[in-house]
Amino acid sequence: MIVTIDGPAGAGKSSISRRLADSLGFSFLDTGAMYRVIALQGLRAKVDWADEQQLVKLARSAKIRLADSMVELDGEDVSQEIRTQRVTEVTRYAANNVGVREELVRMQREFASGQDIVTEGRDQGTLVFPNAQCKIFLTASPEERARRRVHDLASRGESVPFEDVLQQQTKRDHEDSQREVGPLLKAEDAIEVLTDGMSEAEVLEKLIEIVGRCQ
Ligand code: C5P
Repeated sequence: MIVTIDGPAGAGKSSISRRLADSLGFSFLDTGAMYRVIALQGLRAKVDWADEQQLVKLARSAKIRLADSMVELDGEDVSQEIRTQRVTEVTRYAANNVGVREELVRMQREFASGQDIVTEGRDQGTLVFPNAQCKIFLTASPEERARRRVHDLASRGESVPFEDVLQQQTKRDHEDSQREVGPLLKAEDAIEVLTDGMSEAEVLEKLIEIVGRCQ
């Protein structure tokens, strides 16, 4: 069974999706982490962001391993580094790159083959797994999402003003939904869940109920 969870930045998708996968006994795929890893590779290799082929080459050679909450690039644990502001700022170069998307979509489908998964991203229910049995669109108001992101960054030792986070998030939302390939979009058959004012436990309970109805 494939459960897709799409939605905008900061909707709490990653932690909820991971907990949902745990409680269902499914594997979990964090596709945002994959785009972040390619961006990190680009930073480290000091690529010319204007030259799309350089990133495509990196994506083709990348050995990305996603296991539980750990993200590995060529055997190195980069789970923390890919969530820094520095990486977030340049992830759009990976996300807007058609060749990189092709490569990552191929890896995502390969990961899903033959197992039950919860997969989280922007285009999972629309483009990557259009035949998924259960599609969820998880969202929250921009302010609530920015508040959560500030809190999340603070818990990892990065102090970033709310206004800066909100501004960056608005820009990301716009770019994510305007992208020509794999834009952020609610699939027609996805169930929308607005999480404003809900605790993580309440959201999780709601998602378990939705998946139960899909089975
Ligand atoms: O979900 P997360 O914030 O980690 O995603 C990082 C970026 O990766 C997003 O802003 C989005 O541009 C991109 N992304 C994407 N397609 C996905 C998942 C993430 O373009 N399936």
